[in-house]
Amino acid sequence: MPLSPFRLLIPGLFVLAGTCAAQGQVPDIFRDADLPLGEKLLREHQCGACHVRTVGGDGSAIYRPAGRINTPGALRGMVDMCSTELKLGLFPEESTAVAAVLNRDHYRFGLGPRAGAKR
Ligand code: HEC
Repeated sequence: MPLSPFRLLIPGLFVLAGTCAAQGQVPDIFRDADLPLGEKLLREHQCGACHVRTVGGDGSAIYRPAGRINTPGALRGMVDMCSTELKLGLFPEESTAVAAVLNRDHYRFGLGPRAGAKR
């Protein structure tokens, strides 16, 4: 059978349905995250200060939602890696808090486009 339009349509529908279902939903791993704690840790550990040296601006260009970090789990893993590398010794819930703030402010996994930017 030649390539039927349904073969294209059906996966397309799954993608659409997945996207809609994901809008406005904080990913499970960030649901209980302590956002104020994450903000505090990001400030205290000078995460931005170092990223500014690499990418300039306010440093936030280092956070590339369309790059390698493309799932909530990968984002959390990256924060863990940075924490280990910099010997910050973050507790697991601290890494989660930091990743959740980065997600809210930059990556937006599961959240859809930013509405009424907070910062
Ligand atoms: C000593 C400098 C330095 C410090 C301090 C630092 N980072 Fe980074 N970070 C980098 C560099 C350089 C990269 C880019 C690495 C690459 O692209 O391979 C990066 C990349 C990242 C990424 C991945 C961005 C992406 O989308 O690819 C995340 C997330 C991240 N850092 C989080 C943090 C957090 C959270 C902290 C503070 C706890 C932190 N970093 C502190 C230097 C630093």
